[in-house]
Amino acid sequence: MPSSDTFKSRIESRLFELDAAGRRKRLPQYSLRQLSSNDYLGLSRHPEVIEAIVKTTAAEGSGSTGSRLLSGNHPLNASLEEAIADFKGGSAALVFSTGYQANISMMLTLSNIYPFVYSDSHIHASLIDGIRLSGSNCQIFPHNDTEALRSMLEKKPLGEPFVIVTESLFSMDGDRSPIAALLNLCDEHDGILLIDDAHGTGTLGLEGRGGLEHASLAFNPQRVVLTGTFSKALGGLGGYTVCHPLIRELTISLGRSFIYTTALPPGILAGNIAALSLLDQDPDLVSKLRTRVRKVRDAIGLPPSPSPIIPIRGPIEKLELIASSLREKGLFAPVIHPPTVADGEECIRISVTNHWDDAITEQLSESVKNAQLFQ
Ligand SMILES: Cc1ncc(COP(=O)(O)O)c(C=O)c1O
Repeated sequence: MPSSDTFKSRIESRLFELDAAGRRKRLPQYSLRQLSSNDYLGLSRHPEVIEAIVKTTAAEGSGSTGSRLLSGNHPLNASLEEAIADFKGGSAALVFSTGYQANISMMLTLSNIYPFVYSDSHIHASLIDGIRLSGSNCQIFPHNDTEALRSMLEKKPLGEPFVIVTESLFSMDGDRSPIAALLNLCDEHDGILLIDDAHGTGTLGLEGRGGLEHASLAFNPQRVVLTGTFSKALGGLGGYTVCHPLIRELTISLGRSFIYTTALPPGILAGNIAALSLLDQDPDLVSKLRTRVRKVRDAIGLPPSPSPIIPIRGPIEKLELIASSLREKGLFAPVIHPPTVADGEECIRISVTNHWDDAITEQLSESVKNAQLFQ
């Protein structure tokens, strides 16, 4: 057994290395107003969502008491699956405890039938981890570069089934993937497209249905697997896939992050159902966000885009200046360092939400202007 000094010094030297590499993470203060919240539509505080959570929790208890395959398969799981499948125009869905776990399980499952993976270079860590765990044969194509992807596919062994992995709205850059072009490649080479709609849901498309609606495409379950989360525009917790019913069936047997974890509590399921129904029935939620996004982008001198995710890039010293000037105003938007972003792509990730008021926009634009980032 190591002495307690050796034990401490091993850990401290690793922390020191992380610090030196700029990779040590620290938990932020909670009290500051968040400028990087994913609660895009403000649904986490909607009275109908809160009422659904409180009432269901009082009636059904605080926890789910087990995994979906044992005691935790509360009937609200099926109701939420039906609601999210309908909302996305699909016929089957599976609910997971988090979006992270949804991505892990879908990559584990898909690798059984599509052993070749082509992944965009900017996909989320949960997809990367899923691909790694699946042991698939994976090639990374340059971000959104469909021509580079086409030449990779042309070199692939003929007839080998493959999956292309992307996000509808990229979580760090706030840019969109060329879904129609990626689907064309799937049609030409007989593959399937996994789209992580985590940030596209509630933000893309006139009704906020996500990447497919934005691209005016219908859901084709033989070509598309969607994944996503209830924790961003829907303000709750939990992940999902919308996919072909047979893929759903396979995931129940092969998705280890689905099988070996506790199911969502009934109150959380009820809150997700309430949030989804509000989004389904009230397109004003999405248009309100869009108006706010337009104002913020205007105020800091950026071109128009529907994306509420606004990365502010520039020399690291200027980014630190902006972050500390925001902190002085009680606003929290830290500089994001590698490995969350690639080396040299440090940024402040601002995400606009329906909670914002004009005062926040003014304070943000003042901090950005004072750092003379865009001059
Ligand atoms: C693109 C993307 N996919 C998946 C996830 C994971 O979702 P969750 O927070 O529900 O685990 C996130 C959230 O961090 C994300 O940004």
